[in-house]
Amino acid sequence: MNKKNILVTGGAGFIGANFVHHCLAEKIGLIVNLDKLTYAGNYQNLERLAYNADHVFVRGDIADQSLVQSLLDEYQPGAIVNFAAESHVDRSITGPDDFIQTNVVGTFHLIEAALQYWKGLSANDRSAFRFLHVSTDEVYGTLQKDDPAFMETTAYAPNSPYSASKAASDHLVRAYHHTYGLPTLTTNCSNNYGPYQFPEKLIPLVIHNALKGIEIPVYGDGSNIRDWLYVTDHCRAISAVLDAGQPGSVYNIGGNSEKTNLEVVHTICAILDQRVPREENLSYDALITFVTDRPGHDYRYAINASKIRREIGWRPQETFETGMAKTVKWYIDHAAWVENVTTGNYQKWIQTNYGQRT
Ligand code: NAD
Ligand code: TYD
Repeated sequence: MNKKNILVTGGAGFIGANFVHHCLAEKIGLIVNLDKLTYAGNYQNLERLAYNADHVFVRGDIADQSLVQSLLDEYQPGAIVNFAAESHVDRSITGPDDFIQTNVVGTFHLIEAALQYWKGLSANDRSAFRFLHVSTDEVYGTLQKDDPAFMETTAYAPNSPYSASKAASDHLVRAYHHTYGLPTLTTNCSNNYGPYQFPEKLIPLVIHNALKGIEIPVYGDGSNIRDWLYVTDHCRAISAVLDAGQPGSVYNIGGNSEKTNLEVVHTICAILDQRVPREENLSYDALITFVTDRPGHDYRYAINASKIRREIGWRPQETFETGMAKTVKWYIDHAAWVENVTTGNYQKWIQTNYGQRT
């Protein structure tokens, strides 16, 4: 086994691509990046790595167990970090099949290949190997305004097909540790934002629509609350858990930055008002449009991140204000990226999701 090599899955998506860039900047070792390149995976996110000898990109499916097995045999990684997933709640409502296939069946085949590989390692390598599964706070369900934030011990209560499929995958990972002794780690993180996020999720969608001068759709009354974390802080947390996490453990990761959706949207509009003023000094706020709510919409997510802070020493470096300023700037500066990902199938999705909302 080469302890420095990591098999990253889903590394062409939003968080995965940020993690790959983070690892290569830190010169951690060889990154083998397995990604199916679904609508959410974008090779452009990795283009500047085309000549980087520490990055190997493989287009493929985590559910293809023989492909995963052959990559493990060839590159002998010391860790697998699993980002690959269908990740958008609204898509899971209109079409849950892909969520079950990738998040549940795919994770099963990936971890089964990992187990077979791990069993063939020497005793030392077996204890050094890690399977890190990247998951979400949404598995814990929803909170009321004054409920305490989610802890690692909070009971699972997923409410959407997305969170149910992630919960199922978390349970598989737990079982592979408990039953076979595979050295697993699970991280449950709050909402991320930052560069390379596909503009179907709230923050990049709002920036995109505002800059186009089209309606900014806010579900319901905009009072739902999310705990926002800048993506680079999430990547640092994953690296820290890989290095210092206890096998079989779960770590909650969050930004300690709860905002209503309306607060998020107003923040983006205020930054844009400063950076790209509209004609006649109209505010971007004028584009906000309240639309039919998401079915089963979770009211509030909040993470208690005291375990990872106490045991591993991780804490976020960005505040919501600094992270949002960087994010809005990134989208303004990368208009060509946005243009490329918002053509073709993207238009069909916008019609499917927003066409029927009033
Ligand atoms: P994303 O949708 O942007 O990217 C997912 C990536 O996985 C894409 O590159 C896609 O091509 C790839 N993929 C999908 N199915 C695959 C398959 N069968 N085989 C191989 N690759 C496949 O998602 P993201 O926002 O970057 O999220 C990454 C992970 O982090 C997910 O597991 C998600 O549940 C979790 N997570 C996300 C957030 C968030 O706010 N975005 C928060 C907490 C946890
Ligand atoms: P999203 O980015 O889809 O993340 P998640 O549902 O996984 O938390 O949505 C964040 C919040 O923003 C969520 O409460 C739903 C809301 N939302 C809107 O109000 N309008 C939109 O167009 C989208 C995509 C989301």
